[in-house]
Amino acid sequence: MQIAQKEFQKRRRQLLDSMIPNSIAIIPAAPTRQRNRDSEYAYRQSSDFYYLSGFAEADAVIVLIPGREHGESILFCKEKDPEFERWNGILAGQEGATGHYLFDDAFPVADIDEILPGLLEGKQRVYYSMGLDEKFDRHVMEWINIIRSKIRTGAYPPGEFVALEHTLHDMRLYKSAAELKVMRQAAKISADAHCKAMQACQPGMYEYQLEATLLHHFMQEGSRAPAYTTIVGGGANACILHYIDNNAKLRDGDLVLIDAGCELDCYASDITRTFPVSGKFTAEQRTLYEIVLAAQESAIAEAKVGGHWNHPHEAAVRTITEGLREIGLLDGEVKELIENEAYKKFYMHRTGHWIGLDVHDVGDYKIGGEWRVLEHGMVMTVEPGIYVAPELEDVDPRWKGIGIRIEDDVVVTKKGPEVMTAGVPKAADEIEALMRN
Ligand code: GLY
Ligand code: MN
Ligand code: MN
Repeated sequence: MQIAQKEFQKRRRQLLDSMIPNSIAIIPAAPTRQRNRDSEYAYRQSSDFYYLSGFAEADAVIVLIPGREHGESILFCKEKDPEFERWNGILAGQEGATGHYLFDDAFPVADIDEILPGLLEGKQRVYYSMGLDEKFDRHVMEWINIIRSKIRTGAYPPGEFVALEHTLHDMRLYKSAAELKVMRQAAKISADAHCKAMQACQPGMYEYQLEATLLHHFMQEGSRAPAYTTIVGGGANACILHYIDNNAKLRDGDLVLIDAGCELDCYASDITRTFPVSGKFTAEQRTLYEIVLAAQESAIAEAKVGGHWNHPHEAAVRTITEGLREIGLLDGEVKELIENEAYKKFYMHRTGHWIGLDVHDVGDYKIGGEWRVLEHGMVMTVEPGIYVAPELEDVDPRWKGIGIRIEDDVVVTKKGPEVMTAGVPKAADEIEALMRN
């Protein structure tokens, strides 16, 4: 954990300040999930919950009540229990919740059914993200119904439910200096892992063996999980955008596309590189590769303060369309090819997304129907590609089966775009040089 508890406390303060008086916010920890029979998936805290607490235990609920006399920020969490802890690990308990995690007040989560209806009673508004956790939604309704059942005794059930996301997700979009520090570290680990995969690659290896090289490096460096399922696609598998089978043999003469990033302290990184299995690009591969690289560089240049969210995408689309037209894969006027989206035959996804605690991070892309203006501290991916699927019609066979994407993580800063993932080469010559060593 590298972000100071004071910063988490400050975020709760900021959220409390955005709430109306006489209201309450309820933020549950992520549920545990069964993998099979009695085996659970590795626990991952909910990003909203983690953002407000740095607290990684399951079975916990954050409650924020502006103006509450006995403390405005409350953590419900598991009670310390030597027998449970002997089997499952040390718990923070209520003392840890206030002492270490700096909550104002804490209660055993086992008592929440007795305590929460009392906290809800008389509040005008409840801030709660409905629909993310069915089981927890039912609990909230039960607590509300307990108050409703007491209306005749003068109890006052809350009248409004308001989504918490609006404020919370806007806060998450602007990364603090401490968050950027963690994200740079995650980006460096992932960049080094991609370098290792390039150096390990040999014809005849299986895609999952390159995946293993990456995951090994992630963990060696302190990341406990990838930020998303790794994609390793050799040859035409690179044209399947969400290919995760990763079980084919890598062939001499093919490219391999790797989309992989580690998660560090719950922060994501997200890198794609595409390189020749043998270490040397063919002429066709290099031609398409140079177009994608030029598109990516033109898009990164647009990730600047005062520009808007869609500028990088527009730049990438223009560069790709011009490039494809030059080599005869598209035919017509560039302006028209862009307007009628002819490029989508080869480039069918968007050029990026916000990244942070979630790989596809929260934050609005449009405000009032207009593309969002980019500001200092926003972090995005820039990831154009060209995919010439083998089954495409009216395509010169020499291009078929080539899929390329290049992806970096970029911070918008007052000094211009900062590429956090620059530690792994992307110029074709640099990749070839790295693979020769
Ligand atoms: N790896 C997920 C993405 O690139 O969006
Ligand atoms: Mn991405
Ligand atoms: Mn990616």
